[in-house]
Parts: sequence; structure tokens; C-alpha cells
Amino acid sequence: MAVTRTLGIDFGTTNSAIAVTDEAGHPRLARFATPGGTTDTFRSILYFEPWATRGALGADGIVAGPEAIRRYRAASPKGRFIQSLKTYLGDGSFTGTLIGGKHRSIEELIGLILQRLLAAGAEALGPLPSRAVVGRPVHFTAARSGKDDERAVGRLRRAFAIAGITDVVFEYEPVAAAYAYRQRLEKPATVLIGDFGGGTSDFSILSLPPATSGADGITILGSDGLAIGGDRFDQLIVRHAVAPQLGKGSEYVSPPDKVLPTPEWVYAKLERWHHLSFLKSPATIAMLERVQHTSTAPAAIAALLHLVDEDLGYELHEQVNATKSTLSAELAAAFHFELSPVSITWEATRDEFDTFLADDLAEIEACVSGLLSRAAVDSAAIDTVFLTGGSSYVPAVRRIFERRFVNATITGGEELTSVATGLALKAAEQLL
Ligand SMILES: Nc1ncnc2c1ncn2[C@@H]1O[C@H](COP(=O)(O)OP(=O)(O)OP(=O)(O)O)[C@@H](O)[C@H]1O
Ligand SMILES: [Mg+2]
Repeated sequence: MAVTRTLGIDFGTTNSAIAVTDEAGHPRLARFATPGGTTDTFRSILYFEPWATRGALGADGIVAGPEAIRRYRAASPKGRFIQSLKTYLGDGSFTGTLIGGKHRSIEELIGLILQRLLAAGAEALGPLPSRAVVGRPVHFTAARSGKDDERAVGRLRRAFAIAGITDVVFEYEPVAAAYAYRQRLEKPATVLIGDFGGGTSDFSILSLPPATSGADGITILGSDGLAIGGDRFDQLIVRHAVAPQLGKGSEYVSPPDKVLPTPEWVYAKLERWHHLSFLKSPATIAMLERVQHTSTAPAAIAALLHLVDEDLGYELHEQVNATKSTLSAELAAAFHFELSPVSITWEATRDEFDTFLADDLAEIEACVSGLLSRAAVDSAAIDTVFLTGGSSYVPAVRRIFERRFVNATITGGEELTSVATGLALKAAEQLL
């Protein structure tokens, strides 16, 4: 038999991963070097070094993945750090952005990440084929119609072509995760897969035979998804626990004597830290300085100015992210962020975090209910629920399924890699 390696690529909102299968059909993940050690995932991040310091990075001054984080943190002045790019694929009004005076399309930006991901993948696994099975969410974030989803897929296909992957077959991410889960299945089962990522949560119901019975008999009974994921959970922590300490809800006096709320849009930018840089314009800084002068919370507005001035958004959000992750394992966590003249503190509890999530959890539950009814599958007919993706660590997310599928086995695993592994397995099956 010819030695044909098959390739699966999971381009995630937060993390990407690559897997191949060997001649025997066994999956193998690429391992990537990071400052914290070797990992199976590559952060879906792009960093453009500012012109002034570009020389250090070679001609183009563009880095991705773990190196992008390292460079951004060390940089002064800071260049452009771009994350969660997948979120923009479904948004027809976003075509790209101006970086260093050059317009970069969304396809090009994602292509730049993929090029670097694939180069690191090839270093770990050896030369990679130009054909791959690639994951996609059931519905892309910001996609309001099937047409928006189609456009997003077209953009993703072009991004892969830029990176040299010219032959792409797309598969729903939860279906890919099912291929990975099937590896441990001993007898046929009706399985609900939930893949909770950084940008989206996606579900598929499948009739799954064990991997030993080959490709035959896999039936996809239905798939659905929604644009709620870990980025949104971070956003809610900033909204409810951090922004009020930076003056959200405070007031100031507009001359001569008009009492006005501190503009809400400032805090909307704070929720997505990479939008914080937009606050750094001289006009906005001047506005905040005026607000501070007569504010009911002058120290909080001073701290907000400090955050914007010193580009501390990334550090703040990392702390938010770390607190969220601690709350997955512990019932409480201490959040502390020094932002002279105030310290932002939050005695976080899992219970309070769950109240932040309540509306989103209800939407997730409604999405699962809709899928079950459209697929004409009763909850009681689900044998196993497999929960994967980084946000499936959140206990309140898991609880939705524990409550609803009382007779099913609820399991999880390979949170950051099941999709890539499953994509490679699916690719191997297509060669048979
Ligand atoms: N222990 C944890 N507790 C809570 N959330 C976590 C934990 N670990 C990771 N996450 C979150 O999981 C998300 C990343 O998960 P994952 O890598 O599965 O997403 P992705 O594949 O990049 O995104 P998508 O599938 O939506 O494109 C991030 O939002 C991260 O904060
Ligand atoms: Mg994912």
C-alpha cells in the first residue's frame, strides 16, 4: 500500500491544531514549541511589528502563534496584535484592515497565520500534503444567513490557498470531534457532540458505529450552532466585574451644569481588549480627561486612562481569562490587577460567574433543544454526550447536558485537539 499521509487542520478562533494520520491510519498531532513548553495547539494570533523595530523580525515583521505573543509583550512601542480573526469571516461588512499603510484582506490575514501554522506543523511532522480536511463551525459568528456562511467558507478556502493548501474539504467541527470520539467507542451509539470553542458552540447528533467497523454506518442526524463561546464569557466578566471599577455607570458634569453618564461605548471597547487601542486617539483621551475632572469616580477614570495609555489591555484580559479558567476547577478565585491609582479586584465565585452567563446558557440550551426536535431525536435516545473544546471546561456548560440527558453517559476529553484529530481521521476515510 502506498504511504499516504492525510491532513486535518482546525483553524480555531483561539487555538489551531494540525493532525496527520500515518500509514496505519493512526492520528498524530503536531507539537509546537512555546515559551511555556511544547503544546498541541498554536494560538491563532498574528502580530505586525511596528516599522521602527521591524528589522529584528526579518523583512516583513510578521509573526504568528506563540512567537506573536512573546513579541507583542516585549514590544515598545507596540505593533498590531490581531486575534479571534475567525470571528470576522461571517461579517460581510469587514473585508480587512489597514496595517502600516497597507490594506490587508481578511483572507490574507488568516493566510498569514495559516502559513506560519503549517510551517511549524511541517517542522514537527515532516512535509505536509496540499490537500486537507478543514473544520468549520456550523454557523460562523456574525453570519445572519446561509449566504453569509457560504461567503465565510469561500474566504476561508482562499486563505488556505494563500497558505498553499489548494485542495480543501470542509467538515463541521462537531462532526470532526465525533470521528475522534469514535476511537474509544466499543459499540454503536447515538451520540450528541458539543464543541465549545472561543468563538462558537457547535452541536451534532450522530449515529456512530465504533471506529473498528470502518466508515460505513456513520449517519449525521443533524447539526446546529451559535456564536457563543469563551470570548463571550471573558467579555461578560469584563462587563460585570471589571468595567464598573473603571468608571462604568459613573457620571460627570458637562459645562455648565449638565450631568451625563460616562459614555458607554468606551466600555464596549474595553470588553474586547484589542479594540482598546481605538481609545488611544487624542480626541478620546482628551474627552476622558475632561470627564475625569468632574467625574463621580475620578480615580476609576484615571485608572482607565492609565490602561489605555500603557496598552495594558492584553495583560488585563489574560488575567480575566486565567480567573475564568480557575473558576472551572475551583469555587472561588481572586482577581487582582494593579492599575494605578486603583487596584481592580474581584473576589470571584463560580456562582457569581454563573449568573453572568445565565442568558447565554439559556441560548445554548435552546439551540440544543431546537436541534433535537429538528433531527426528530428524543433526549432519551441519546446514549452519550461528548463535550469538547476549551469552553466545555466551564461547569455551568456541562450542567446543561447533565440536567437534560439524565440517562446518557456524559463524557469529554481532548478539549483542544479532538477536532484536528477527527479531521485527519475523516481525511483518511475519504481516501479509502
Ligand atoms: N479551563 C478552562 N475553563 C474555561 N474556559 C477555558 C478553559 N481552558 C480554555 N478555555 C477557553 O476555551 C476557549 C478556547 O477553546 P478552543 O481552543 O476549543 O477554541 P477554538 O477552537 O479556538 O474556537 P472555535 O472552535 O470557536 O473557533 C477560550 O475561550 C479559552 O478561554
Ligand atoms: Mg474549535
